[in-house]
Amino acid sequence: MLDPNTAPSAPHSPPGARFLRRKPVERLVAESGHGSGGGSLRRTLSMWQLTMISIGATLGTGIFVVLGEAVPLAGPAVTISFVIAGLTALFSALSYAELAGTIPASGSSYSYSYATLGELVAWVCGLCLILEYGVSVAAVAVGWGQYLNELLDGTIGVTIPAALSNPPGDGGYFNLPALLVVLFAMAFLMGGAKESARANTIMVAVKIGALLMFCAVAFTGIRAGNYEPFMPLGLAGVSAAGASLFFSYIGFDAASTAGEEAKNPQRDLPRAIMLSLLIVTTLYVLVAAVAVGAVPWESFEGSEAALAGVLSDVTGTELWAVLLSAGAVVAIASVVLAVLYGQTRILFAMSRDGLVPGVFSRVNARTGTPRANTVLVSAFCGILAAAIPLGELANATSIGTLFAFGLVNIAVVVLRRTRPDMPRSFRVPLSPALPLLGLGFCVYNMLNLPAVTWLVFGLWMAAGLVFYFLYGQRRSRLAVEAHEPPATAEK
Ligand code: ALA
Repeated sequence: MLDPNTAPSAPHSPPGARFLRRKPVERLVAESGHGSGGGSLRRTLSMWQLTMISIGATLGTGIFVVLGEAVPLAGPAVTISFVIAGLTALFSALSYAELAGTIPASGSSYSYSYATLGELVAWVCGLCLILEYGVSVAAVAVGWGQYLNELLDGTIGVTIPAALSNPPGDGGYFNLPALLVVLFAMAFLMGGAKESARANTIMVAVKIGALLMFCAVAFTGIRAGNYEPFMPLGLAGVSAAGASLFFSYIGFDAASTAGEEAKNPQRDLPRAIMLSLLIVTTLYVLVAAVAVGAVPWESFEGSEAALAGVLSDVTGTELWAVLLSAGAVVAIASVVLAVLYGQTRILFAMSRDGLVPGVFSRVNARTGTPRANTVLVSAFCGILAAAIPLGELANATSIGTLFAFGLVNIAVVVLRRTRPDMPRSFRVPLSPALPLLGLGFCVYNMLNLPAVTWLVFGLWMAAGLVFYFLYGQRRSRLAVEAHEPPATAEK
């Protein structure tokens, strides 16, 4: 009997089996970098740049904006909330690291699911990734607009009018800054992966610098009394804050979308994923500990630009707060850049497999980038960012991310059983216990999301499944090949 993982899809498979057809891991690896038109992506990214892509995609709105909403829930124990959210991310990060080192394809968890759980699950995963990446670009772009206004106000005393900086239903007609930051990221991505990675590295350096500056300045204001009581709203408050801070960890998996542009993916991807998570968690805990030590936790209530507010309180001047706002503007722009990059590469992989139109995997010969794909994805994200309020977008992002993370944890366990022989540059310790724990954390967090988020998720999935049955199922390359004469299909 043929092993479904190593054999090409069976010709004329029965209807049920079609949705379960799996793409052989060897084939995923062999196709690396090649688009539908024959052009290929270029392997230019080092371990360092991959780490920067993950940090670039992660460090942004969560620490600059969401921290301010989490402190009133947890008090000084918000530091513990960051650790709890980090643990949820850690279990899934270990699974990502194992699969990224084993199957270094650009599709990230979509590709891992295709190799292990079959085409239909992979398609569902792809739909989730559009929520994790495409929709979060829009959510983060909206947050960027808010910080830009803070900065303009602090420097030249002018702000963009509400009509042009808020979406309909939120006091405006159109969110112009959110659209502009997406177009700015698009311009970089059109230039090439290496150029975008360079710009991203500079922006990551600026945002880490801004957070370290925050720690140094706010440290001077620390009073031991501010840490007491440490847990004013009990454990329930700490875990509620942890759930909202999960958003701040989304993005650590972005390096896994660069599998086909990494110089040495098997070695570097697992390292980049784990290193970025370590750096980001350390920064989060440090910044949170200093912030709640420098001002009483109650003063975070209702504060939009929380970290800038702490600096104004501690120093009594606006200078440091303005500098920090400038850092936040750069920080959040780099999240838009890195996450937009990830979305284009995921659609690239899906298009190469025939599940979405071929235009997404056409590579420009001069730049070695999927340019048409980049324009289409940017247009989609730009319109969402300009027209929809932030809160709606952020929850949709969380549910999609948690679903995709859950699938990655399952995929690790499945691949260990179906392909125990495959060379793995990184192995999750204590498997299957840790991946299953990771899955449990994802399910628990999903169940805590509001009913309306589930409704949006259900509608999105239903629309996606209709598209699959009308388009992807027939155009899938595995399906097309399965209908060729056996001699060709078996090649
Ligand atoms: N983790 C990303 C951020 O906090 C989405 O902006």
